[in-house]
Amino acid sequence: MNPTVRPLTSDRRDEALDVTNRAFDDTPRDYFERHQSADPAWDVSQSLVVEDGGAIVGHLWIADRAMRYGEARVRFGGIADVAVDPAHRGRGHAGRLLEAAVQRMQADGQPLSLLSTGTPEVYASRGWHPVQTARFEGEFPGGDIEWAGGYVVRPVQAADLPTAMRIYADIASDRVGPLDRTEAYWQAMMDWLPRIAPDSEVYFDVLVQVRTVVAYAITELSDDRLDILDGGIEYEDLAIPFLSVWRDRAAARGVSRLTGELHPSSELFDLLRKRAGATLKPSRHCMLRLNSLRGALESVVPELIRRRRRMAPLPGPAFVLNVDGEAARIETPMVNVVIGEPLGNEPVVELTSGQFLDLYLGLPGGYQALDDLDIPSHVDVYLRRLFPNSPFMYWRADRF
Ligand SMILES: CC(C)(COP(=O)(O)OP(=O)(O)OC[C@H]1O[C@@H](n2cnc3c(N)ncnc32)[C@H](O)[C@@H]1OP(=O)(O)O)[C@@H](O)C(=O)NCCC(=O)NCCS
Repeated sequence: MNPTVRPLTSDRRDEALDVTNRAFDDTPRDYFERHQSADPAWDVSQSLVVEDGGAIVGHLWIADRAMRYGEARVRFGGIADVAVDPAHRGRGHAGRLLEAAVQRMQADGQPLSLLSTGTPEVYASRGWHPVQTARFEGEFPGGDIEWAGGYVVRPVQAADLPTAMRIYADIASDRVGPLDRTEAYWQAMMDWLPRIAPDSEVYFDVLVQVRTVVAYAITELSDDRLDILDGGIEYEDLAIPFLSVWRDRAAARGVSRLTGELHPSSELFDLLRKRAGATLKPSRHCMLRLNSLRGALESVVPELIRRRRRMAPLPGPAFVLNVDGEAARIETPMVNVVIGEPLGNEPVVELTSGQFLDLYLGLPGGYQALDDLDIPSHVDVYLRRLFPNSPFMYWRADRF
């Protein structure tokens, strides 16, 4: 019988987790189990499995998540725990799972898909594009790290969560990419993150001043480095006590390397640049797929309207975006943005899905694509105002 892809059912979950466990050498089964079940939006049928000869030989999970896009939110399918039994590889099973996942995400109204991978080849031929993020490398400084008194770094407590969430929302408010986290999701994160790797420790710390939480940070310490998974630090000065605590912990394990993914214009990166010699390098482990152009545009209308108000208040043009054959009309009457069907008489801007995603996520490739096209100038100007450079950013704490 031909291999078939079907949604996972509860009675066969153990079998599917066994496949995941066999496929990943260094990630414990416990992590996959908790990462899935603790997710407040989880349902067993979000996993797809390949059955061959009656046995489950491959698994993929589509996490149901949403990313922040300034004032708007875009739902996406987070492709996670993609695993094919070592004895059944090279027979197209991962490909089958990904094709079924795309159909599922399109049927479920997830206009985007996001994943993180070390093997982009597996996803590139099925429409996922590498999206550049910024990874920093630094070294803990020697000598005294002094800061103004009155600050204490301590482990997070349940009562700190609302404040941590407020800090997260403040930092993410203008950004494209960060996950939309509910309180239940924050709690789930504290459950699964410590299980990522048996030989690393995950710390969730808050910085307290006069009994008030003023910053938070999630870090992972291994024998190799201290990785910042999420830095809820709005001002440079607040990073200094963390730097001191991280350095002491790292030193106890003989570690001096400090890494992480940060927004290039963040206050935290500024501090690490000055104090830890941190430099940014492009990283391309993140991949995105456009499942629906209409869905991706309609989801972000509230943010497009906000951008219009800020930068282009007068009535603008109507034009059509044609992205790999899918077309959507963008109309920009006074104080509004309307996404609709093309009427046939508008200027058409043709983009590949990779170019569109770069534009949509505020990455440099978007403007490079516009530079190379012959677009009427009033449309070109408008497109750049609707999609300003604002590089995509995603915390490692939310990875799959
Ligand atoms: C990665 C993995 C899922 C691939 O499964 P598979 O069933 O052997 O893959 P397929 O036969 O369906 O191949 C799909 C495509 O990926 C390519 N591919 C597969 N494994 C690859 C690898 N390790 N490196 C580069 N390309 C690879 C194939 O050439 C094929 O390309 P094509 O569709 O353009 O022809 C499997 O090797 C695995 O479980 N690895 C361990 C866990 C893992 O790394 N998961 C992915 C985490 S992001």
